[in-house]
Amino acid sequence: MAERLPPYLDGCEDVLTSLDDAHVLTIRINRPKARNALRTQLLKELSEVLGKATHDDAVRAVVLTGGDKVFAAGADITEMADKTPVDVMNDPRAAYWLAIRNFPKPMIGAVNGFCLGGGNELAMHCDVLIAGTSAQFGQPEINLGIIPGAGGTQRLTQMIGKSKAMKLVLSGQFMSANEAERAGLVGEVCEPELTIEKATALAKLIASKPPVAARLAKESVLKASDAMLHEGMAFERRSFTTLFATEDKQEGVSAFMEKRKPTFKGR
Ligand code: CAA
Repeated sequence: MAERLPPYLDGCEDVLTSLDDAHVLTIRINRPKARNALRTQLLKELSEVLGKATHDDAVRAVVLTGGDKVFAAGADITEMADKTPVDVMNDPRAAYWLAIRNFPKPMIGAVNGFCLGGGNELAMHCDVLIAGTSAQFGQPEINLGIIPGAGGTQRLTQMIGKSKAMKLVLSGQFMSANEAERAGLVGEVCEPELTIEKATALAKLIASKPPVAARLAKESVLKASDAMLHEGMAFERRSFTTLFATEDKQEGVSAFMEKRKPTFKGR
């Protein structure tokens, strides 16, 4: 377990880290009170841990996990409340996401519980996902008057196809672990208690392979889809930024924070 070994990177609050002697670095997202919402500090810490691991030969594979009930509930909505489009344009989060995207070593995601919004976008940055039967995947940003902003519209569509991606992105509904496996989002489904064990076993197996070949294998597989990703992500980012100027975004975020149903007016 991540907590029993000394931290891989000192000073982190939102992520717990440990490196085992099989060259597997485990990173656990750890903000249970806020349902592991990805506040800016958390993304910064994650990008710093991955930055250190990139240049550390002792790390050959990573397991990224969350809690029993929540992998991550998306961006921290309280941080979004007062943001303007200009704030979003200047947001350091974009650089942290880029660092996560550019992490060159194999990363296995172990997902239990809610995996939503930016949480699902983070999960999709993993190279393989192992999900417990309790996992639920979704892009509920539409309920806040916005859309995914970290590649969700693009990666999800590539992974599960247009119709299923549209269903999640437009309705805000969730997808079960079994459905996610059938759709191609998830590599394997298991009992929730076994998720981390299975992800770690796979990471250990990968860590036993030649590291340079593993790195180039990852890069090559990503080339199958990354070339198409760039333009779509730029479009998504512009749309996401624009939505921060709408009354509906103010209403969606306020309604979430005030625990009430939003009323959207198309303004
Ligand atoms: N940001 C900030 N706080 C959050 C949060 C989030 N994404 N999700 C949950 N919380 C907080 C709640 O406000 C609540 O705080 P208090 O205890 O202070 O009231 C606490 O976590 C517990 O939340 P719930 O009572 O709602 O917990 P639950 O177990 O009943 O439900 C949940 C869990 C289904 C994940 C629900 O909390 C939820 O729907 N969260 C929001 C999911 C969401 O909309 N994600 C998308 C965010 S936008 C985004 O992700 C865009 C992007 O990256 C670019």
